[in-house]
Amino acid sequence: MTAQRYAQVAGWGMCVPERVLTNHDLEKVVDTNDEWIVSRTGIRERHVVANERETTSTMATRAARAALMVADLAPNQIDLVIVATVTPDHSFPSTASLVQDALGAAKAGAFDLSAGCSGFIYGLVLASGYISGGYAEHVLVIGAETLSRIVDWTDRNTCVLFGDGAGAVVLSAADRPCGVVSSVLGSDGSGGELLIMPAGGSRCPTSHETVSNGDHFVKMNGSEVFRFATQIVPKATEQVVQKAGWQLGDISLLIPHQANSRIIASAAKRLAIPAERLFVNVDRYGNTSSASIPIALCEAIAAGRVKAGDKLVMVGFGAGLTWAAAAVEWGRPVPTKPQPWLRRTLASLRFAWAAFRSPGLRLARHGYDLTLGPEGREDWRGQLRKRVDAWRRKHQKPGA
Ligand code: UT7
Repeated sequence: MTAQRYAQVAGWGMCVPERVLTNHDLEKVVDTNDEWIVSRTGIRERHVVANERETTSTMATRAARAALMVADLAPNQIDLVIVATVTPDHSFPSTASLVQDALGAAKAGAFDLSAGCSGFIYGLVLASGYISGGYAEHVLVIGAETLSRIVDWTDRNTCVLFGDGAGAVVLSAADRPCGVVSSVLGSDGSGGELLIMPAGGSRCPTSHETVSNGDHFVKMNGSEVFRFATQIVPKATEQVVQKAGWQLGDISLLIPHQANSRIIASAAKRLAIPAERLFVNVDRYGNTSSASIPIALCEAIAAGRVKAGDKLVMVGFGAGLTWAAAAVEWGRPVPTKPQPWLRRTLASLRFAWAAFRSPGLRLARHGYDLTLGPEGREDWRGQLRKRVDAWRRKHQKPGA
C-alpha cells in the first residue's frame, strides 16, 4: 500500500513595487477624498508599478525567489509553476513560463490560472492535489497582479480600489498530516459581467473602438460584488471548516481576500472571529486580486501570527464570479532567523545563473540556424547539422 502524501507550505515570499500611492495622491487624479476611501473601503494606500520594467512576471519572480530561499530549494527542484493572475504579461506565452525561465526552473512545467481574486486558492488546492497524488515534490504557487495597468485612472469607482504586487508559496511533499486539509471551490458565471474587462479577448478583440470606449479597463458593479462577497465569504468559510472536521472556534487565523475592510468585518462578525484571529492589511495594499491572500499570509508570518500546528483558513472571491476557501494546517515551524549567508549567496548565484541562462538559450536558438543553416541542406553545413541534430535528439533534455 502506498503511504499517504501531504503537501505542506515550505516557503513563502512577497514583492510589492516601491512606489506608494496614497489616497491624498489620488485626490489629485480623480474627484475623491481620503475620508470616502477610508470609510467605504479601509484602504489608505496601495503600491503601484513605477515603470514598464516592472510587470506581473518580474514581481512574481521576486516573490518566488524569496519563497525558494525560505524553502531552501534550488529552482531546478521545482516541478511545477502556477501563476494565478488576471493581469498576465501577455495573453500568451503564460506568465508562469516567463517566471519559470527567469528563475532557471529548468525541470518545471508552467501555466497560468485565471479565477479572478480566488486564483491563488485555486492554485494552492490544485498544487496540493498534484503533490498528494504523487505527481510532484515541490510546486510554486504564485498570485501576481499589475492591476494599475488595467484600471481606468479617470474612473473613481474603481481606480481607488486596486494595487499591484505578488505573493508566492512553495508547497512540498510531506509524510505527516499537514497542509491543505479541505477546500471549497465555486463559480457562478451568471455574474460574469459584474466584474469584467470587456475587450481584448476573442469575443471582443482590441480595436480603435474598444480602446476609445475604454473597454480594455476593469468594469465593476461594486454594490453587487459587495453583496455577493458578504454572503459568500462566511458561507465558504463555514463549509471549508466543516469539511476539515473543525469548528469555527478552531481557526487560529482567518486570512480573507483583501478587497474591502467592510466585507472582512461583516464576515468576521457573522463567523464570530475576533480581531486577534483575523488578518487585515487592505489599508496598505488595496485590492491586489490574486496576490492579496499570499501577501497577507507573508505579512502574517512576518508578524509572528503563524506557528506550527496552527489552523488557517484562507478565503477568496472575485471575478467569474468565483470563490475559494482552503483550510490549512501549518506543518513547519516558522524560521526565526534568515538563512545563513553561505546559503543566501549560493541561492543568489543560482538566480544570477538563470539570468544568463535565458539569453544564452535564446542566442543558441538563433545562432544555431545562423551558423549551420536550415535543415535539409546538402553541403557540409547541412551534413554537420544532421549530425548535431542526431546527437541532440539522443542526449539533450527538453529545454536544456
Ligand atoms: O476583488 C473583488 C472585487 N471587488 C470588490 O470586492 C469590491 C466590492 N464592492 C465594494 O467594495 C464597494 O461597493 C465599493 C467600495 C466599490 C463602493 O462602495 P459603496 O458603499 O457600495 O458605494 P456606492 O457604489 O454605493 O457609491 C456611493 C457613492 C456614489 O455617489 P452617489 O451616486 O450616491 O452620489 C458614488 O458615485 O459614492 C460615490 N463614489 C465615490 N465618491 C468619492 C464612488 N466612488 C467614489 C470615490 N470617491 N472614489
